[in-house]
Formats: sequence, structure tokens, C-alpha cells
Amino acid sequence: MNILDGKEVSAKIKEDIKVEAAAFTAAAGRKPHLVAILVGNDGGSETYVASKMRNCELVGFESTNIRYDVEVSEAELIAKIQEINKDPNIDGLIVQLPLPAHIDPDKVTEAIDHRKDVDGFHPINLGRMQRNLPCFIPATPYGIMLMLAHYGIDTAGKHAVVVGRSNIVGSPMSILLARNSNPGNCTVTLTHSRTKDLKTEVLRGDIVVAAIGKKNFVTADMVKEGAIVIDVGINRENSTETKSGFKLYGDVDFDNVAPKASWITPVPGGVGLMTIVGLLKNTLEAAKGTIY
Ligand code: GUN
Repeated sequence: MNILDGKEVSAKIKEDIKVEAAAFTAAAGRKPHLVAILVGNDGGSETYVASKMRNCELVGFESTNIRYDVEVSEAELIAKIQEINKDPNIDGLIVQLPLPAHIDPDKVTEAIDHRKDVDGFHPINLGRMQRNLPCFIPATPYGIMLMLAHYGIDTAGKHAVVVGRSNIVGSPMSILLARNSNPGNCTVTLTHSRTKDLKTEVLRGDIVVAAIGKKNFVTADMVKEGAIVIDVGINRENSTETKSGFKLYGDVDFDNVAPKASWITPVPGGVGLMTIVGLLKNTLEAAKGTIY
């Protein structure tokens, strides 16, 4: 069993981004700039946005966190997005999800100029991704592809089983793995809550991507010997064992699945760190204007 080490890979790629950011800053006279909008005070979202901001500083980007009270109206939020769309000193804009129930996430996503949509959630970017055209790729699937590429894992012809069909991870992951690209060229099965006999489907996977959001959901009896196992889960539970007051669990029962896997990502220290890298790479691309 080999570990797909998000800590090592993300650190290396972030060094490359730092060099490119410095070159951009020298040429443009300003740093690449990411704005993150956070509505309300969900603990998980606050942690993720703080980490995104911290990582921007680390690689030499400017970052701005705009916060709104949970009561903010959809119209006010969209007016702010439209203002940012027009600001030439802002390269990337993300609105942290989930949003409160009175705000339509699809309306918000489509309000963002697709050239600043560094989350890759806008339908223009999703359509372009499906057609292998220049686009922003959603950060988590992008990070996973970068990790597979880093370790030189040959995915061509392999059967990939993605568990979970979310807009943020499962659906885009299934497109990327099936695309005519490297990594890619997989035969893909996208499974979800209505899949019949999930265990049989997952057992067919040479690659298993678990993106369900349930602690230890993928167990050893569901995984083929020698499979490559990618765990996207970040399930937070309160804990007195850690300084932060919570502990993270993946969607994969790591202790029992790892001995069967050829490669596996740990939680924490796996996909989560690569998600940040995907976002930073997209922001740099946005600043350089290479995505039209
Ligand atoms: N919520 C969970 N993951 C993400 C993400 O990648 N981007 C945004 N904007 N919100 C999220």
C-alpha cells in the first residue's frame, strides 16, 4: 500500500505557484487577487475560507474575505458579485457553499463572470470542461487529477467508480476521469443514493473516488484488492482529543481499506490539501487571463 500524500504534493505545487505569482506580480504591478464571499457563520465554511485566504498569502496572492450576515438578501449578494465582476483588480471570485435556504445557489453561481469563476461551477466552465476546452476545473476534482499526475499513475482503461454525484465533486470527477486526457481515459461508473447494489458496483472499481460525506462509508468488503482509493470526505466530529476541538474522518474506513489498496489518500493530509492547490492554480490562470 502506498500513500497519496497530499501534504507533500501540495507543498511542491505551491512552491511552483509562488514562483509564477512573483513573475505575474513583477510584470503586472499587482498580485493575483482572490475574493471569497462567506454568508453566515457555519463552522466548516469559516475554516475552509480561512484556509483559502491563508494559502493565498503563502503563495503571494492578495486575498479578500467579504462577510455577510446570514440574513443578507439574494439581491444584495448578486449586486456585490456584479460589482466584483467589473473590478479589473480582482481575478477570482468564490462564494462559499452552502448558502442559506433563501438564496438560490444556481442564481448566485450564474451571476459570477465565468472568467472569474475559479470554483469552476458556472455552466460555461462545466460545458467547456466536458468538451476538453480551456476552463476552470472545480478545485477538488482538479486537485485529485494533479495528485494522480504527480505520482504518474496510469489511469487509461481503468474502471473508475465515483461514489456521490454532487455538482462540486462527484459529477465533475466523473467527467474528468472519462475525458480523453492523462490522467483520464477511464471507464467511469457514477454511483449515487439511488444506485442498486452499491457494493457490487464499487467492487468493480480499479479506482474508487468516495465523495458521499458520510464517515467510514466505504468499507473493506466493498473494495477490490489493489484498488486506488481516493477519499474526498471531510466529516467533522467534536473531539476532546484535539486542540481544535474537532476531529476529521474520511468517507473511507481507512484502517481496514488501506491494506487492500495499492494507493490511498489519508484524511486529513490527502484530498483536502489538494483542493486548495486547485483553487490557487485557477486563480493564477484567472490573473494571467488564459481562460477566456
Ligand atoms: N463548499 C464545499 N466545497 C466548496 C468549494 O470548493 N467551493 C465553494 N465555493 N464552496 C464549497
